[in-house]
Amino acid sequence: MSITTEAELAGMKKASEAVAYTLKEMSRYAQPGMSTKQLDDYGAQILSDLGAKSAPYLTYGFPGYTCISVNNEFCHGIPSHSRILQEGDLVNIDVSAELEGFWSDNGNSFVLGADIHRHQQLVDASKQILHKAISNIKGGVRISDIGYLIETEAKKRGYKVIKNLTGHGVGRSLHEAPSEIANFRDRLNRERFRKNSVVAIETFIATDSTYAETLKDGWTMVGNRGGFMAQHEHTIVVTDGQAMVLTERNGIWN
Ligand code: CO
Ligand code: CO
Repeated sequence: MSITTEAELAGMKKASEAVAYTLKEMSRYAQPGMSTKQLDDYGAQILSDLGAKSAPYLTYGFPGYTCISVNNEFCHGIPSHSRILQEGDLVNIDVSAELEGFWSDNGNSFVLGADIHRHQQLVDASKQILHKAISNIKGGVRISDIGYLIETEAKKRGYKVIKNLTGHGVGRSLHEAPSEIANFRDRLNRERFRKNSVVAIETFIATDSTYAETLKDGWTMVGNRGGFMAQHEHTIVVTDGQAMVLTERNGIWN
C-alpha cells in the first residue's frame, strides 16, 4: 500500500508492533524440548490478545498461526506436536498478521541455545545483509539494484541466495504490489521503490541451494540442493531518506 494519511501510518504502526512483539516473544520463548506446536500456540495467544489475526491462516488456510521452520526446512514449516526443538537447531519463525485492516510481516532465523552445528555465521550474514539492503532503499531506487546488493553481499561471504522466494508489498493484504523484491538482480524487473509505499524486505541466504521446493505436505519448503537457509524480514515504509522500519521492535538487529 501507499501511505496517504496519518491514520494509515498509525494503523500500519499498530499492526507492525503486534507482529514484531509476537516474533520477539516467540524467539525468546523457544527452548530445547518444546514442540513447534507449543511455540505456535504461544504466538497465537499473543496475536489474539493483541486483537491480531494470523495472515497465513486467514489468507492461505495455512495449518498453523505462524510459520516455524527448523534446520533443513527453509520456510512455511507447519507447527507440529511431533517436531521437538533441539539445542543448536537453526530455527526460523515468520509472523504476519492483520490488525484493524492493516497487514504486516516479519521473520527471524536464530540458533537455539549453544551453536553446536555452527549456524551462527549464516544467521549473522543474513541479518547484516538485511540491514545493508534496507539502508540502501529509498524512493526511486530500482528494486533490481537492491536484489543485486543482496546477492553480492551473500557471495562475498561465501553464500548463495534463493531465487524463487522474494520480499513483497504489504499493507492492505499480505502480498501486494510490488509483488517480487528478489534477492538477485532480476533484469526483467524495472520497477523502483516508491516513496510512502509499504514493503516487506526479506533475505533468503543459503549455504548450498538456489531454489526452494515444496514438500509433499503442500507447505514446507526445502532447498533443491539441501543445506541451510537464514531469513530475516522487516516491514518498512519507503521515504526520501532512511526507511521507517515498522517492525524494528522485533529485535532481530539487537
Ligand atoms: Co514476507
Ligand atoms: Co514473512
